[in-house]
Amino acid sequence: MAITSIRGFKDILPDEVGKWQFAEATARRVFESYDFSEIRIPLLEKTELFTRGIGESTDIVEKEMYTFTDRSGISVTLRPEATASIVRAYIEKSMYKQNPVAKLYVIGPMFRYERPQKGRFRQFNQINAEVFGLEDPLIDVEVMVMLIHFLQEIGLEKLELQLNSLGCKACRPSYQERLKEFLLSNKGRFCADCQRRIRTNPLRIFDCKIESCKEIMGQGPLMLDFLGPECRDHFELVTSYLKALETPYVINAKMVRGLDYYVRTAFEMVSGDLGAQNAVAGGGRYDGLIVDLGGPEIPGIGFAIGMERLISLLSPDVGSQKIPHLFIATIGEKSRIQGFKLAKTLRLEGLSVEMGYEKKSLKSQMRRADKLACPYVLILGEEELQRGTAMLRDMRSKTQEQLDLTLAPEVLLRKMK
Ligand code: HAM
Repeated sequence: MAITSIRGFKDILPDEVGKWQFAEATARRVFESYDFSEIRIPLLEKTELFTRGIGESTDIVEKEMYTFTDRSGISVTLRPEATASIVRAYIEKSMYKQNPVAKLYVIGPMFRYERPQKGRFRQFNQINAEVFGLEDPLIDVEVMVMLIHFLQEIGLEKLELQLNSLGCKACRPSYQERLKEFLLSNKGRFCADCQRRIRTNPLRIFDCKIESCKEIMGQGPLMLDFLGPECRDHFELVTSYLKALETPYVINAKMVRGLDYYVRTAFEMVSGDLGAQNAVAGGGRYDGLIVDLGGPEIPGIGFAIGMERLISLLSPDVGSQKIPHLFIATIGEKSRIQGFKLAKTLRLEGLSVEMGYEKKSLKSQMRRADKLACPYVLILGEEELQRGTAMLRDMRSKTQEQLDLTLAPEVLLRKMK
C-alpha cells in the first residue's frame, strides 16, 4: 500500500509554488524597504521556551504542541510560532548590544496539533515580522502599515484591519477581576471548556465559537473600558496615527489573540472570504516577553501572516506556472547532443529551455512543447545538422524560419530575452 502524508500536513505542488515564491519575494522586498533584516532560526526548540513565552494556559501550549523527548532526554518542541524563538535568539546573541533597535523577519513552517479544516493545518507557514526596542506608538502603526502595504502589493486590498488594546500588567488585573465576577455569575450558562477557562484563562472565553457563549460575552466587560491612563494614551495615539496615514481600521474590543504575551496593541487582518478561519494575519505588542525569557527590559511588537490563508485569497493568475522560452526538438543522436549543447549555452545566458531528452518522434516532442505552452520550438533534424542549420517554429503564428546554427544563440537571445 502506498504511504500517504500525515493528516494536516500538505504538499505544495509545482503549479501552486509560483504564488508562494511571489508572496515571499514581495514580503522580502517590502519588509526590507522598512529596514527589516531576515533571521533564520531552528524549527526545534526547548519546550520551556514556548510554555514560558506563549503561556501555560493557552490552547497552543495546553493541547497543540508537537512535543517529544529527544535521545538525550531533553523535552523539545517543533515551533508553534516564531516570536518566542526570535526573542530567544535576540537574547542569546545579545543583539541589543550592537543595536538598540532590531527589525527582524522570519519566513517558514510552524507546527500546531489543531483539528485540520479549511484554512487550518498542522504544519502551516508564516511570514513573521518583529521589532524590538521601540515603545512609541508610531512603531505600532508602522508595523500595521507595512503589513497592509505588503497585502496591497500582492493584490489583497479588501482585508479589514481590526484593532484592540489589551492593557498592561498594571491595568489588566482590575479588569480581569471584573471579568471573572461576570463569568462566575453566568458560569452555568457556558460550555464545559469555557467553564474551565474561567479558572485558567478567562480572556480566552471571548474566542469561543459556541453561539451561546458568544451571546453571553456580548454583555461582558471589555478591556478597552478599563485601560489605565498610559495605555489609553498609547491606544489613542495609535488610532490618531492610523488616521493620519489614512489607514482604515475597525475597533474589535472582543479580540484577545491566542497567545498570552500581548500587552496594549493587538490587531488582526480579517477577510470575509475565508469562512471560520478568517484571520490572514495577527499580531501585537509584547513588552514583557523579552524580560520573561531572561533578557533585558526591551519592548517588542510584531505580526505573523498565515501563508496558506493568504495564498488561498490570491487571484488565479498570480504567480502562474513559468513557461519555458524555448523547446528544442531533435531527431537522431548527433542532433540530440547538439541540441543539448545549445540548451546549455542558452541557459547560461538566462533563457529557460526545455528539450526532448528521450529518443521520441518529432510529433511526440511537438506535443510536449505544445503542452508546456512554449512559444518557440527549435527543430534540429539530421539533414539540418548536416547543412549547419535548424528550423525555428513560432508556435503562436505557426510560421517557421531557418537559422544558421552558428548564429542561432545570438538570434534566439535577441528574440526571447
Ligand atoms: P497567530 O494569530 O497564532 O499569531 O498566528 C498568525 C497567523 O497564522 C494567523 O492569523 C493565521 O493566518 C495563521 N495560522 C495560525 N494557525 C494556523 C493553522 N493551524 N493553520 C493555518 N494557518 C494558521 C502568532 O503566531 C504570533 N506569533 C504572531 C505575532 C508575531 N505576534 C507578534 N509577533
